[in-house]
Amino acid sequence: MAFQLLLAVFSCVLLLPQPAFGITRHYTLEIKMQNVTRLCHTKSLVSVNGQFPGPKLIAREGDQVLIKVVNQVSNNISIHWHGIRQLRSGWADGPAYITQCPIQTGQSYVYNYTIVGQRGTLWYHAHISWLRSTVYGPLIILPKRGVPYPFAKPHKEVPMIFGEWFNADPEAIIRQATQTGGGPNVSDAYTINGLPGPLYNCSAKDTFRLRVKPGKTYLLRLINAALNDELFFSIANHTVTVVEADAIYVKPFETDTILIAPGQTTNVLLKTKSSYPSASFFMTARPYVTGQGTFDNSTVAGILEYEPPKQAKDAHSRTSIKNLQLFKPILPALNDTNFATKFSNKLRSLNSKSFPANVPLNVDRKFFFTVGLGTNPCNHKNNQTCQGPTNTTMFAASISNISFIMPTKALLQSHYSGQSHGVYSPKFPWSPIVPFNYTGTPPNNTMVSNGTNLMVLPYNTSVELVMQDTSILGAESHPLHLHGFNFFVVGQGFGNFDPNKDPKNFNLADPIERNTVGVPSGGWAAIRFLADNPGVWFMHCHLEVHTSWGLRMAWLVLDGDKPDQKLLPPPADLPKC
Ligand code: C2O
Repeated sequence: MAFQLLLAVFSCVLLLPQPAFGITRHYTLEIKMQNVTRLCHTKSLVSVNGQFPGPKLIAREGDQVLIKVVNQVSNNISIHWHGIRQLRSGWADGPAYITQCPIQTGQSYVYNYTIVGQRGTLWYHAHISWLRSTVYGPLIILPKRGVPYPFAKPHKEVPMIFGEWFNADPEAIIRQATQTGGGPNVSDAYTINGLPGPLYNCSAKDTFRLRVKPGKTYLLRLINAALNDELFFSIANHTVTVVEADAIYVKPFETDTILIAPGQTTNVLLKTKSSYPSASFFMTARPYVTGQGTFDNSTVAGILEYEPPKQAKDAHSRTSIKNLQLFKPILPALNDTNFATKFSNKLRSLNSKSFPANVPLNVDRKFFFTVGLGTNPCNHKNNQTCQGPTNTTMFAASISNISFIMPTKALLQSHYSGQSHGVYSPKFPWSPIVPFNYTGTPPNNTMVSNGTNLMVLPYNTSVELVMQDTSILGAESHPLHLHGFNFFVVGQGFGNFDPNKDPKNFNLADPIERNTVGVPSGGWAAIRFLADNPGVWFMHCHLEVHTSWGLRMAWLVLDGDKPDQKLLPPPADLPKC
């Protein structure tokens, strides 16, 4: 404890001078059990430093961060810094069995990386099994000292992180689902900063309240840390201005409602009313759902409260804030794909002199992957039934019909030590081996193949990847997340991607740059990125249930020739499997 205090003081002292380059920041995250009560259910959950959600971490562009993660729970753990590029520092990326073996009980690991060319809202979360349901928190990267935002400086900045609350233990839920082959139980509530809010039973006291002053601008740093749900979010009687997505500045636009997929972040400016409105306003979120499975259709609400003017600040009006009229926003219908399309079309890179959109204009390699659901046979030996889409099948999910099997050794270590044989295959098909009418009537055979396949890329390959949703077991929007890179979303559409027609409409001027893209339900998204970061980089659906079912793969980007184009050597404390 004294040591942590010392570190905190030390970090503050380091903040005083104004160095041209970054500083080094030290954090310690203790993963420990903590009793938490929501909806009148008390449970012991896996937390960060006893906090739920975990603490906010702050750094500046250019800083080096050293984050010591200490595992004091019985589960294996690893932490991912979602959206951090990890240039040459893939050892610190975090996905278990991809870039590292998990940290075992009683062990620790120091995540060591430098934040290069990035600023904005990101987040961190556990990256093993479903532990990220409670192990997550904001990771705020401020611009370099003296560098302003490309918008007026807000009065205050407020992280708002959406999550999902399960009365049961999420680890038990996914364990059961994997055994039965059925869909996992859904959450009992959505949360804002860990709080479900007043629309749930026994929850009014657990409400996120945002106290504001009239006539000011607030920067809301929205993060979707929910396990399995894209979310609509709106504030009653207020519009917001979207200024950033996935830590990339965008061309500002106004909207009443935002759509945010798990893994994504969105910064919005909230301009408060010019005078005290004598009312309070709900800020609500509920899911955007395109799949056919059951889902949590409940609504989380926080409350936007205005500080009463000075003359009204007597005891009477202080208590009466609770009696003010409370406005509720109207959210789009749960399946409003029309809204989703319009919203994503509005997102454009700022593409200014200081923040250019460096879209790869020439493409070295083009790939076409399908993303979607499928089936595996029941894994029971003797004629037993299971609870998948039929009683002889279990749910699966795949990329190009390969359902990814998690290795038992970390891929990056296997690659680096030249011992990949028996751990992974370096052959991932550039397009599906058996093409079909992806969004038409689904094929009779929905079985996936299973394997640990990587796509190998030489250093600096410029890549175009089309991700095509399938209608197998129902079309569904899939938020695809790529580690180690930002990519440009150069196009998207519905139906089957047409390689002759669709590229003509690609936006190569100001496409949105991000790390997680919603592949439209029954449609496709085309992305481009430059493979300038050597390492093994996980790519997966950020709906955790789909990841668990195998909608995941990894890219292996080889070292370049020059010394600064090579993966750094592994740290000495890298966990062993
Ligand atoms: Cu936010 Cu691989 O995850």
